[in-house]
Amino acid sequence: MTTANSPLTDKVALVTGASSGIGEATAMVLAAAGAKVAVAARRADRLKAIVARLEKAGGKALSIEADLAKGGDITAMVDKAVSEWGRLDILVNNAGVMLLAPAAEADLDDWRHMIELNLIGLMATTKAALPHLKTSKGHVVNVSSVAGRVANPGASGYAATKFGVVAFSESLRREVYADKVRVTVIEPGLVRTELGDHITNAQSKAGLEHRLATMEALTAEDIANAILYAVSQPPRVNVNEILIRPTDQER
Ligand SMILES: NC(=O)c1ccc[n+]([C@@H]2O[C@H](COP(=O)([O-])OP(=O)(O)OC[C@H]3O[C@@H](n4cnc5c(N)ncnc54)[C@H](OP(=O)(O)O)[C@@H]3O)[C@@H](O)[C@H]2O)c1
Repeated sequence: MTTANSPLTDKVALVTGASSGIGEATAMVLAAAGAKVAVAARRADRLKAIVARLEKAGGKALSIEADLAKGGDITAMVDKAVSEWGRLDILVNNAGVMLLAPAAEADLDDWRHMIELNLIGLMATTKAALPHLKTSKGHVVNVSSVAGRVANPGASGYAATKFGVVAFSESLRREVYADKVRVTVIEPGLVRTELGDHITNAQSKAGLEHRLATMEALTAEDIANAILYAVSQPPRVNVNEILIRPTDQER
């Protein structure tokens, strides 16, 4: 699968939310570039199938079942990835949910869940991984969203978590740059994945479906390739932010 020139040979990556969509595509792309990849999410059957595909292609992979809205699972996930291959070079914080609803109709539990997973989960995973990333002079990739830069109506709760990811990432970059740890925020526009499947507000769900039906959305592979670009640069290059919209998307 890999060649002597594969840019990520000998690197170990942990990708969260890797059972579908952007995370799955990222695991595939990083493995094809030579990395050993630990894939984490809740759906163990999907993770095992991804590991089987990666191993069949000649890669090294590990599945880790973890609910990242739970602190204990986060520590165990990082420990498992590190103990398998003895190091951690690339952390892709990608797990997330998008429970869209206008603020007046929003379910408080949906807001709490988004904050717990999209923000606290990402922060706690980063904290658990940092000692290992400092040792390896590694890389944190945080998957935010165009919603972390532009707060549109109907997305207030989700946008609050993604603005939080951007703020956390910028502060983190300034804390760890002297340790040669790099930090990248990825801000995708609309990508065709399972993300909208969990929206319960009928108007918000219909709105998203209409947008997907009337534009050529990005693919998960488009975002995975942007992540590969960021993590394949020479150590002196710190790609801090990639905002990537479909050509058809205005805001
Ligand atoms: N699609 C877009 O248009 C878009 C745009 C901008 C940003 N993003 C961001 O991209 C990231 C990936 O989303 P996607 O579009 O690829 O959607 P997706 O296919 O639904 O993927 C979401 C991933 O997160 C995992 N996940 C959800 N809840 C979890 C939990 N409690 N613990 C651990 N893992 C959990 C899911 O796995 P399990 O269900 O198996 O746990 C899945 O692997 C998200 O952070 C999202 O906000 C997406």
